[in-house]
Amino acid sequence: MTPLHAPEAIVVRSYLGPGDERSLADDVLDGLTRPFKELPPKHFYDARGGELFDRISELPEYYPTRAERAILEARAADVAGDAAELVELGSGTATKTRLLLRAMADAGTLRRYVPIDVTEGLLRASAEELVCELPGLRVHGIVGDFERHLGHVPAPGPGRRIVALLGGTIGNFPPGSRRRFLRRMAALLRPGRDRLLLGTDLVKDPVVLEAAYNDAEGVTAEFNRNVLRVVNRELCADFDVDAFDHVAFYDREREWIEMRLRATRRMDARVAALGLDVAFAAREEMRTEISAKFTPARLHADLAAAGLRAVEVMTDPDRRFALSLSERSRSQRTAQP
Ligand SMILES: C[S@@+](CC[C@H](N)C(=O)[O-])C[C@H]1O[C@@H](n2cnc3c(N)ncnc32)[C@H](O)[C@@H]1O
Repeated sequence: MTPLHAPEAIVVRSYLGPGDERSLADDVLDGLTRPFKELPPKHFYDARGGELFDRISELPEYYPTRAERAILEARAADVAGDAAELVELGSGTATKTRLLLRAMADAGTLRRYVPIDVTEGLLRASAEELVCELPGLRVHGIVGDFERHLGHVPAPGPGRRIVALLGGTIGNFPPGSRRRFLRRMAALLRPGRDRLLLGTDLVKDPVVLEAAYNDAEGVTAEFNRNVLRVVNRELCADFDVDAFDHVAFYDREREWIEMRLRATRRMDARVAALGLDVAFAAREEMRTEISAKFTPARLHADLAAAGLRAVEVMTDPDRRFALSLSERSRSQRTAQP
């Protein structure tokens, strides 16, 4: 089939070679030998993990996606209307991103979209759709790990650049790493011109929060267990995936949701690619994600620690989610991306 768009409209560069495994091997070796076992959430996202997350975002209990979309529907033109370029970390299906790109196209300023995601299939599919929907758009896709590959983001063009991290993904970082990562995103911004668009889920009634991560259909449970399927496939491990229960609870002191996998019985697993034997006691838990919730004070303190200043903080009508637009303070030195 002939593409409807110019072939040069899409460039995709992959920094995840066959030997790379998205740092999975190192993370598994670290995480499964700790006294309290832990795996980082980026490893949920193979093709199936991406599809499961998409289903989660449609669930009645999972309000963050709807709340963030409501803000973008109301404010996309104010947020992105005069921008030329959108760099999006963890772009996924880029569903909400379309609202921003359309606002930029309507204003006649849209030039380039730079999505970065570990899931190549999703990134390529959304790039194809977007260049068909928005004539003249160029996509420079980066298949990579945004914790390791921000240095491959191309230099900005002449117009305003927006760097976006949506979906509350920033909440997956523990507090110190979160500030370090904000600093690295800030380094992609030119002071006085570019903006960071950051989605943050807000502190609220724990009943609402816990329901969002314990849906009745069990999709979040499948998403949680998917990390073990990824380890089994990519590192030749033999975890009995169905022998782990999904656990999600709100830690009121730290104000974050924690997801864990709990072994339903004592078991031994072998991760053949690492020559690693792992023992789980009955009911032993392994942490697979934290999702920090924000107060205005926490948001402003984190931004300030990264040399950023909020220009505007927008919320949905129910005040469940916040989308902040920040700029880099002129005086601040920031990290290399
Ligand atoms: C919670 S989903 C959010 C997707 C979309 N931005 C949204 O708001 O609906 C997180 C996305 O980030 C990607 N992701 C997670 N960790 C990543 C990493 N370290 N580097 C690159 N992409 C990552 C996943 O593949 C997934 O598409």
